[in-house]
Amino acid sequence: MRLRKPVLGVIVVVVVGLGGLVLTAGTTAAQGGLLGARYTPGAPGAGDAYFPYAGNGGYDVQHYDLALTYTPPAAAPAPIVGRLSGVATIDLVATQDLNSFNLDLRGMDVQAVKVNGQGVREATPPAPGDVPAGPGYWQIQDDDARVWELTIQPRPKLKQGQTARVVVTYGGDTVRPEDIEGALYGWVTTRDGAMVVGEPEGSMTWYPVSDHQTDKATYSFDITVPEGKVAVANGLPRGDPVTAGGWTTWSWDAPDEQASYLTTASVGDYDLRFSQTTRGLPVIDAVDDNLTPANAAATEAGLALQADMIAFLEDTFVPYPFNSYGSIVDDDSVGYALETQNRPVYSRAAREFTVVHELAHQWFGNAVSPQRWQDIWLNEGWATYVEWLWSEATGGDSAQDNFDGIMAIPAEDEFWDLAIADPGPLGLFEGAIYDRGAATLHALRTRVGDDAFFAATRVWLTRYDDSTATTENLQSIFEEVSGQDLGSFFDVWVHTPTKPTI
Ligand code: TRP
Ligand code: ZN
Repeated sequence: MRLRKPVLGVIVVVVVGLGGLVLTAGTTAAQGGLLGARYTPGAPGAGDAYFPYAGNGGYDVQHYDLALTYTPPAAAPAPIVGRLSGVATIDLVATQDLNSFNLDLRGMDVQAVKVNGQGVREATPPAPGDVPAGPGYWQIQDDDARVWELTIQPRPKLKQGQTARVVVTYGGDTVRPEDIEGALYGWVTTRDGAMVVGEPEGSMTWYPVSDHQTDKATYSFDITVPEGKVAVANGLPRGDPVTAGGWTTWSWDAPDEQASYLTTASVGDYDLRFSQTTRGLPVIDAVDDNLTPANAAATEAGLALQADMIAFLEDTFVPYPFNSYGSIVDDDSVGYALETQNRPVYSRAAREFTVVHELAHQWFGNAVSPQRWQDIWLNEGWATYVEWLWSEATGGDSAQDNFDGIMAIPAEDEFWDLAIADPGPLGLFEGAIYDRGAATLHALRTRVGDDAFFAATRVWLTRYDDSTATTENLQSIFEEVSGQDLGSFFDVWVHTPTKPTI
């Protein structure tokens, strides 16, 4: 099968990178033990098998306050390179006695670090196995191994349970970063600004972050851009934009906890529109001035349906989980949309079925996030299934029609050659993650009946709200609610790379 071999290759490279580059928590813990110290380095990753250096261990972030200044590229033929400088103020709680801890940061240079008001100086990265004694910070930027880490060793050390305010001043040229499979992501510099879409671990391209969804946090943003540009982030505006000396600062507050991959701070020539749903939810759309007429028309039609779609999802599942909604539609070449929290970002057009897909993610993926990247089908399967439900509710093909369409794919087709609950890091966005994922949910609905299916889904959305969950957690809830043993159902549908026959 097409995916497996490259996946293994990538993992080997990453693991080789580990020994040479980063002090592992295990090694240094042993050294700490010899000295009788309890203070050890926080792990350089959150423990995700697909992205071993995404996120970090040893602390829990409460809030990110990001003060950014961004200069978009000059007009063509200048290169598409922008300039970003930032001050990130990160409030965290130590979850172990910490000698040092890491943040993820890619392609940006750190100029200053403070921990609880105390300056920490730049230090040379220690040789493997060495534990420097004093305070210091250092960066590792290994593009080949995909390891990007900022290590901060504060003095005094941080005690378990202690809160710390970490202030990182940083900056750099912005480019067009790529994810593990070569798709654009992160702070994608565009001629007129930036389209910012961080799934799965691209937020580290624009701020220091524990870049894994198991550490959700709240956010606030002050984004300063040349006068005339608009900067749109998650949540609601904090006051009107302030212009002085040719620069405008756009401030946003996102008080609902969010996963790092769902942050955005997109910059462009946007027309901002404020409205609200009949139930009073604020909706803020930002639509690029320069969409083609056809894309602009499709976008207007798609965005006009948002309030009805929100009502449909609320009536089908549970109330909308956050404080606001709205879309950012950018004229760019990124080529896909992302369900950034409260405010999805669309590339070139926001079409009806993409709009309902990204909206569905606010419940399925954002409020309840995949605990490990291997659980990505929980995001995409549900969002695709909601497209099927919306189609049926609006007089199009029924969910059963869509299911039948998927089941018409021959068993020999490589579409079926994927265990969707463990697709590998290069398989996160394969077609089967979406379509077999949705078919799995439809088959589950047929198996347990409509009442149990929708009741179990509401339990899922309630129990794991503002949190993360796994495929096994989903199976347990459906077993609890239906009273059925679904072991073989899940084996066949999500764990086995062949076409299900049930
Ligand atoms: N945003 C896509 C969705 O809503 C998922 C996605 C993220 C993606 N990165 C990608 C798709 C890269 C293709 C390529 O489903
Ligand atoms: Zn999706």
